[in-house]
Amino acid sequence: LASDHVRIVEVGPRDGLQNEKKAIPKDIKLELIEKLAKTGVTTIEAGSFVPAKWVPQMASTAEICEHLLTSPPSSQNTTIAYNYLVPNIKGLESLVKIMDSTGVPADAPGSKSKAATTTEISLFAAATEAFSKANTNCTIAESLERIKPIVALAKTKDIRVRGYVSVALGCPYEGPDVNPTKVADITATLLEMGADEVSVADTTGMGTAPRTMELLKALKAAGIANTDLALHFHDTYGQALVNTIVGLEHGVRIFDSSVGGLGGCPYSKGATGNVSTEDLIHTVHSLGMHTGVSLEEMSRIGSWISGQLGRVNDSRAGKATLSR
Ligand code: HMG
Ligand code: MG
Repeated sequence: LASDHVRIVEVGPRDGLQNEKKAIPKDIKLELIEKLAKTGVTTIEAGSFVPAKWVPQMASTAEICEHLLTSPPSSQNTTIAYNYLVPNIKGLESLVKIMDSTGVPADAPGSKSKAATTTEISLFAAATEAFSKANTNCTIAESLERIKPIVALAKTKDIRVRGYVSVALGCPYEGPDVNPTKVADITATLLEMGADEVSVADTTGMGTAPRTMELLKALKAAGIANTDLALHFHDTYGQALVNTIVGLEHGVRIFDSSVGGLGGCPYSKGATGNVSTEDLIHTVHSLGMHTGVSLEEMSRIGSWISGQLGRVNDSRAGKATLSR
């Protein structure tokens, strides 16, 4: 990555939609992903292979995945990565079954009209025991054990692996004072286990600039390279962009965001959506850095999907861009 290039991981179709109460038709989700693929964004979280009992909104992930493998959307990018969250080996086995039945490898070459695609997964661990229990029904140590066979299977299929560390800057059960050294230790463990990149997540949006700085220092002290690190900010307290600037200053160049600021975590009561992709693009471009993503197109999608869901468009930059 060039030092002035920021890679945006668009998490709207997964993190953004997973908490919506009303079932969203699969075709709307696919239309969202197809529109996103045309904006210049290179990584899209497309769904999660979790039990419907835990997150009912993600029940259509298998069908979405099959569609994206067999009829990948057209895209201006040379390669576009579709990422799926898997909480356990069963989740990855479901994905692999679809890949095997369609015969599409993790690195699928493109054609004249279709972008090449890669299939990736995300695994997740938490920085507090209480959140680990609520989100994955196991202890932190058990969750790390669970991850080992997932990484091993992913490697045999050349599937790139992303890790998440949730509640890195505040926990709905244990409060804002999450130990940064603990976050850094889990991040390092995930990388040692074979994750290609780890996204450190402010699930609750409790993060502040000073504590983000403290966390980044702890990650650096643990030997984590910025190239292996992404930041994932929820905007519950309106601090996501402030904390993004802190991350940029420390040299982080991968950020997760959600079009229209969609979202909220089902196991983090009151947490609102991710930082909106439109606001993130606007901020990064205002600093003279680039994302390769069109603010105008992203703004149109933010407005469209908000309308489809009957919710207010949460992106300030998106609304301003469209009213210009
Ligand atoms: P559990 O209930 O302990 O699982 O949940 P289990 O192994 O006992 O299985 C229970 C049932 O689910 C069984 O079926 C399994 O077969 C089935 P039954 O015998 O009752 O008929 N099952 C599955 N079905 C489909 N797909 C699977 C699967 N696994 C088991 N993969 C489990 C443990 C980890 C599965 C559960 O806790 C879980 O799914 N947790 C994930 C919850 C989730 O998706 N949270 C939101 C995503 S994380 C997030 O948003 C944070 C992030 O954005 C970063 C941040 O902001 O912090 C990433
Ligand atoms: Mg999240």
